[in-house]
Amino acid sequence: MNQQLNAFILIFCSLLSINSLAQTPPQAAIATAHPLATQAGQKIILQGGNAFDAAVAITAALAVVEPYSSGLGGGGFWLLRDAQHNKILMLDGRETAPARAHRDMYLDKDGHYIAGSSVDGALAAGIPGTVAAMVHLSAQYGVLPLKQVLQPAIQYAEQGFPVTEHYQKMAAFRLSLLQSQPESAHIFLHNNQVPEIGSLIIQKNLANTLKRIAEQGRAGFYQGPIADRLVNSVKAAGGIWQLDDLKNYQIKLRQPIVFKYQNMKISSVAPPSSGGIALATILQILQNYKLNTLDEVSRTHLIVEAMRRAYRDRAEYLGDSDFTGVPVQRLTSPRYAQELAKSIQMNKATPSTDLPAITHRSEGQDTTHFSVLDTQGNMVSATMSINYPFGSGVTAKGTGILLNDEMDDFSALPGTPNVYGLVGAQANAIAAGKRPLSSMSPTIIETGQGFALLGTPGGSRIITMVLLGILTMEQTPETEQWVSRPRFHHQYLPDKIFYEPEALSSDVIRKLEQMGHHTKQLDGTYGNMQAVSWNYKNGVQAASDPRVEGEAIVFKVPKKPH
Ligand code: GLY
Repeated sequence: MNQQLNAFILIFCSLLSINSLAQTPPQAAIATAHPLATQAGQKIILQGGNAFDAAVAITAALAVVEPYSSGLGGGGFWLLRDAQHNKILMLDGRETAPARAHRDMYLDKDGHYIAGSSVDGALAAGIPGTVAAMVHLSAQYGVLPLKQVLQPAIQYAEQGFPVTEHYQKMAAFRLSLLQSQPESAHIFLHNNQVPEIGSLIIQKNLANTLKRIAEQGRAGFYQGPIADRLVNSVKAAGGIWQLDDLKNYQIKLRQPIVFKYQNMKISSVAPPSSGGIALATILQILQNYKLNTLDEVSRTHLIVEAMRRAYRDRAEYLGDSDFTGVPVQRLTSPRYAQELAKSIQMNKATPSTDLPAITHRSEGQDTTHFSVLDTQGNMVSATMSINYPFGSGVTAKGTGILLNDEMDDFSALPGTPNVYGLVGAQANAIAAGKRPLSSMSPTIIETGQGFALLGTPGGSRIITMVLLGILTMEQTPETEQWVSRPRFHHQYLPDKIFYEPEALSSDVIRKLEQMGHHTKQLDGTYGNMQAVSWNYKNGVQAASDPRVEGEAIVFKVPKKPH
């Protein structure tokens, strides 16, 4: 049975691929969380760069203009479509735990979690992967010199970028932390307070660091004076980094998680992200139902029950697969999803406590995503993070590099929820060199009609946002609607449906509660989805989540003279 199914998926995927090989997009498209990053990508493509060069330019630009979301001191996942070889590839530039990290490093002598210790300050920082990923992406797939591709970011850092409402919100959220860190306060605050809208954030040290990377590649960051400063600053602030941690950092090339849902071949990221596996579980559970024929209450109920089961498995089984056995085949198989579907009752919520208990925890709410397509059909769907807004709050002296607090994505104490209420097990326990479990879910979808790229920040809710985007894609080809649709979320524990104010009507909420669901309306909206689509017949579209301040563009690329 499994063999037949695999053969079917193989034939299905080959048929999709034959179609895509014959085509190239009439325009390029970019969607990012900041207009300056979108412009950086466009500039590079118009200078003759491909989607991979644009991705490096965007990654670097976001590191400058969205310092609260991602950066050279962070990590991420870049999902690539190499058009020439018609291959989807996963570049894992996730942070690693330093060599001196150990399982109980955030616990006191009585074994209790020390509040905030994995979130604020240098001990919270993992070894960054973003620079290694950028250099690899540029060297292996780009066509322009790294120096040229980093130029827009260098310019933004040197000349400054204007403070927006969103910047103010993020800085206000982490104000006391930033105020406690003089190097960070000097760069990201003005007079130790949230800067005025329109005032400029100038980052001369970061510009110099970027120039060094432009000249020397990864050695400009992982060795030499920048590495020395990183390690010295971390140590001075109570952290445990050593020079070898930086020197030894390696990106990983991984097989993406690929599965079929309806007429879509969906590729998303593998562990150490939970995104691809959880999406496969949820969508393959939903495949057992005719969702589009159901009323809103039944449909929402089923989606929530599928989310609940996938997040339960996430908590139990998922972690860095280089360190822990993750049953990827089983968790992504349609048969397993069918088994899980059998445990769902159509008229009644399953309390999370009724699901098999986990042996016994996580991620950040900031982060950023971009999607880019060039006119050869190359694509990059990338999600990057420094975890919590402004990461650990520590900027390494003289470098402009703000360090992540991605160590909080580990399970510091099995069974204890982290700041986002996620629980986890031994599979995601801290170990030297291990990558913390992520929810980042950059995704590329192929159908017989074309391709779609999407992703979003949002911590534990990333996966369910991408899911809702995919379900909306089934109903409409309009990318604006994928990114703007109202959202709801369930993550197993806490056992609650969290929803945006407009997402569920009072009637639907009442009926869901009658079925045993617990619901909680959020104060505001969440997420910042960036999507691009290429339909062979109808052309290229791009959309940026209207909830925040991103920019999506579709543009013609003049043919290069022969
Ligand atoms: N720190 C966000 C994530 O990796 O999911």
